[in-house]
Amino acid sequence: MLSIQDLDIKGKTVFLRCDINSPIDPDSLKILDDSRLLEVAETIDALKDSKLIVASHQGRLGKSDYVSMEQHAPALSKLLNRKIDFVPDVFGPTAIDTIKNLETGDILLLDNLRFTAEENAEMLPKDAIKSHLVSKLAEHIDYCVLDAFSTSHRSHPSIVGFAELRPACAGKIVEREVKALKGIVEDSNTKFTAILGGAKIPDRLKSIQKLIEAGRIEKALLGGLIGNVFLAATEKVPLEATSIDDEKSINTAKSLLEKYPEKFMLADDVAVEVDGKRTEKSLSELNSSDRIFDIGQKTINKYSQQIDNAENIFITGPLGMFENSEFRLGTTEILTKLSNTNARTITSGGHLSAVLSQLDLKDKIYHVSTAGGALIRYLTGEELPLLNALNNSADKHTK
Ligand code: 3PG
Repeated sequence: MLSIQDLDIKGKTVFLRCDINSPIDPDSLKILDDSRLLEVAETIDALKDSKLIVASHQGRLGKSDYVSMEQHAPALSKLLNRKIDFVPDVFGPTAIDTIKNLETGDILLLDNLRFTAEENAEMLPKDAIKSHLVSKLAEHIDYCVLDAFSTSHRSHPSIVGFAELRPACAGKIVEREVKALKGIVEDSNTKFTAILGGAKIPDRLKSIQKLIEAGRIEKALLGGLIGNVFLAATEKVPLEATSIDDEKSINTAKSLLEKYPEKFMLADDVAVEVDGKRTEKSLSELNSSDRIFDIGQKTINKYSQQIDNAENIFITGPLGMFENSEFRLGTTEILTKLSNTNARTITSGGHLSAVLSQLDLKDKIYHVSTAGGALIRYLTGEELPLLNALNNSADKHTK
């Protein structure tokens, strides 16, 4: 892969595809956590001598986090202490006119790439170059910097298209991730104790299956909403207590439990809310008016023992509703445990990165990544469209 230093970006128009997709408060629609903005600051800084176009997606169509990037511009500007302009457009006349008028040192943030239909579709690079998004913008750019490691598993036009038409290099985040993880990924003997939490259920189920099939999982320790799907699959708890009504996911979890029973560790006790307070219950004590919001202390102890025996540990997603202080315990205790083990520890996703910062434990983790699904796919050894695009571009432009 080429690096920023390999391209003569001075005075050139550079398109930076990053991932500043951030958690958004469903009520206020404000950014809840700026980890990804903070992280991309280094790449933006390294491109300060160019005319810079910054672009990212935000949320998914139909979800409450599918919002404009308007507030990302001032947030980034504050972190970088640089002026960042925003256009409420992606490749229309407003965006193109503004791009044409950029001066060296200017930074322009485009609107949510997924506001264009094309960016919601997976496509091959040969088709991506024909998309309006890529063909219209590419006319006005000299180089492309790909730094959206956390979206590297999506073959979307902005991820795979520009690199076909213009020389492309890796941004700082992609370089850091690949440097830390390439050796681990390429060593097929590496097996992980995977601690899986969070709420992206269908994605997570696919990832668990892929990790197991790739022979990468020693044990999968579950929590969060994905843990609730598996608890529902065991039929040992009232379905209402899990807050899961997605039968397809429950059936997938059932078949995974049947096929690989020795791979999974599930909660034995959980935390529910009673009069606004955390109350721990064993699974058999749960009734249909309870709602599971965290793993309980016995489960934390059981998972901690497994952590003591592991050489490589991978954790993705919070293990409970960590936004509420009553239900942070599972997430904070397990992260604290991980910071004290000799195992090689990898944490995945913006939420865990934010909690580690709050606990001041980031330095005690082998690798902290803000990537979620993309990182899991990378660990399975699967090829990632963004990395392929960078490798192809390097082949083309270094010969
Ligand atoms: C992420 O948060 O995992 C990335 O931004 C990718 O988002 P997606 O899962 O909606 O494609």
